[in-house]
Amino acid sequence: MKLNSANINVMIKACRKASKVLIRDFGEIENLQVSLKGPGDFVTLSDKKVEKILIEELQKARPTYSILSEEIGKIDNDKSFKWIIDPIDGTANFLHGIPHFAISVGLEHNKEIICGIIYDPIKDEMFVAEKGNGSYLNNQRIRVSSRSILKDCIIFTGGPKHEAENREMALKEYNDFSTKVLIPIRKMGSASLDMAYVAAGRSDGFWQRNLNYWDIAAGIIIVKEAGGFVTDFQGENDYLNNETILVSNPRINNEMTQIFK
Ligand code: IPD
Ligand code: CA
Ligand code: CA
Repeated sequence: MKLNSANINVMIKACRKASKVLIRDFGEIENLQVSLKGPGDFVTLSDKKVEKILIEELQKARPTYSILSEEIGKIDNDKSFKWIIDPIDGTANFLHGIPHFAISVGLEHNKEIICGIIYDPIKDEMFVAEKGNGSYLNNQRIRVSSRSILKDCIIFTGGPKHEAENREMALKEYNDFSTKVLIPIRKMGSASLDMAYVAAGRSDGFWQRNLNYWDIAAGIIIVKEAGGFVTDFQGENDYLNNETILVSNPRINNEMTQIFK
């Protein structure tokens, strides 16, 4: 079994604590689902509660680190270390009572992600990675799949959002994917878990446009440390600037990029 570094232990502790609220609130959703008001406001509140616990715990252990978190935005502090937080990734699933969402926390050092944790509290699955130390699911080492023929693969994607600027383009890409190679495409509704599943070899690849940094920060290191590729749609390294991300096992990356041409 691997030894977790001090930073990873801090992240795990914060996630476990925040997940207690998340699990309890998820249990309430079923009742709210049938109420006239629906669970909308309640979910927004859960999001904020989970974020607050995460930030409190992380700040307690690392008071000088900066923070970028989906709901509250930026807390500027130490320039070199920054937590990147998505308190609930897969909110629409959470809202509908679908048990597929996660807490995602990444740690950036000098603009590079060095640690990541994606925790699915309902399945109690914790994906963890640290630069140079491999990727783990509940303490077991994980690796990307070895499938090399795209038509044998399962590929994940998400979006496009209704308001997305290049919605048309995203819809065309989806069409191209489903018609050029007849592969099963899944929209699971949580970008962080999509990436974690590629790292664990459950899915072979994932692509999406217009994601935010907090959706992918932890996933980037978890995929890389599991032996996967993280690129933009052209197969280049510029995925943060280009707002397109393509994640896969190394064998199908090239074939996937061809579809975007
Ligand atoms: C969303 C999920 C979803 C993706 C959306 C994201 P949220 O995050 O990751 O899978 O398709 O683009 O915004 O809103 O649930 O944190
Ligand atoms: Ca998200
Ligand atoms: Ca979120």
